Amino acid sequence: MLVIPGLTDMDDSGGQTGHQDDRVRVRRGDIAIGRPLLWDVYDDSGQLLLGKGYIILNERQRRRLLEEGLHSTVQLTSETDRTAADGSPQIGGNPFVTIDQLTMRLEGVLGMVHQQSTAVAPERRIRKLGRAIQALCDYDADASLGATHLKHDASYPFRHSIHTALLCELVARRLNWSLLKRLSVVSAALSCNVAMTELQAELVEQAEPLNDMQWDAIQQHPQRGYEMLYATGVSDQLWLRVVMQHHECINGRGYPAGARGDEVLPEARLLGLADRYHAMVTGRSYRNGILVKNALRRIFLDVGQEVGSSLAQMFIKEMGIYPPGSVVRLQNGETAVVVRRKAEMAGPMLACIANGKGEHYAQPLYRDSSEQEQYAIRDIHPSPGTLPFSLSQLWGY
Ligand SMILES: [Fe+2]
Repeated sequence: MLVIPGLTDMDDSGGQTGHQDDRVRVRRGDIAIGRPLLWDVYDDSGQLLLGKGYIILNERQRRRLLEEGLHSTVQLTSETDRTAADGSPQIGGNPFVTIDQLTMRLEGVLGMVHQQSTAVAPERRIRKLGRAIQALCDYDADASLGATHLKHDASYPFRHSIHTALLCELVARRLNWSLLKRLSVVSAALSCNVAMTELQAELVEQAEPLNDMQWDAIQQHPQRGYEMLYATGVSDQLWLRVVMQHHECINGRGYPAGARGDEVLPEARLLGLADRYHAMVTGRSYRNGILVKNALRRIFLDVGQEVGSSLAQMFIKEMGIYPPGSVVRLQNGETAVVVRRKAEMAGPMLACIANGKGEHYAQPLYRDSSEQEQYAIRDIHPSPGTLPFSLSQLWGY
């Protein structure tokens, strides 16, 4: 059996797996440092070396895989077919570029809803974007989650909607909601603030308290959004009701109706929760977002009262203590970005960006936080400043 030093997730059961005739050599363009494997990788004798999802930590590991690794084409083909059967768009390549494209398309289609144009079939287009969000979470959930914490380079209302939709999809999967129900929630997340996109862009720059007109517009935007979407042909009742209720709270203190308890749909509570979490960690142009750990604490203590504690707990479980996109300090003093979650209870994978003196590395160094004590996470970095690498570089795209 091939042993690749430093790779610890190997199956040592000695079991052979079928489809040996379908295996092909791992190719240079198929793998990259910092990225998970797309398939199980075997050696020449058919022994499983590394499972799908294992993250390549360094150049030495990458080279050994290129020299000796084989993967099954059957697995890859069946996965592609499954995606196509779902009717989901094919997502590949760089997820951060895909997020940029989706954000731009969302801006276009919400503009059409705003103008009450039915010529472009907004329902179909928003649903298509929703399916792309779902496919993106299939393709790379950790990079998607990382983007919700660190991607700040598009107009706020649209990137907020895309990121909130990603959060909804990831948590709704954990809740085992059906694909169609999730699609309704994701579509609602993409479109719930359609009645106040301009005001949202204004408020993100505004340090002063809301004036009366702004306050009214905010109070009315769920109802107005519902009406605008309905008028342009959205007929999905769950989608529409979630838009209407996304600021309602189970304690009756929400708006516009002041609904209470079970009157507030679970799907609307999830959207409200994701919306608040993302707003907390993103911040405003005049102040930084709050630290992830403080946002999660607030979800646990305060937001739980508004959406229900079991949903809040599920949200926190999906995020983990250090979700992808958290900037942390290690026991050895290094600064790192969390890039991949592992099994529950195991420490995440990290891309180290600076040494203990704060000096940036020339390229990210990948560490497994549970591999050595010195790489264990000490705490969240209180003021990480500007990252020296793009998200594509950090996630290995
Ligand atoms: Fe809203």
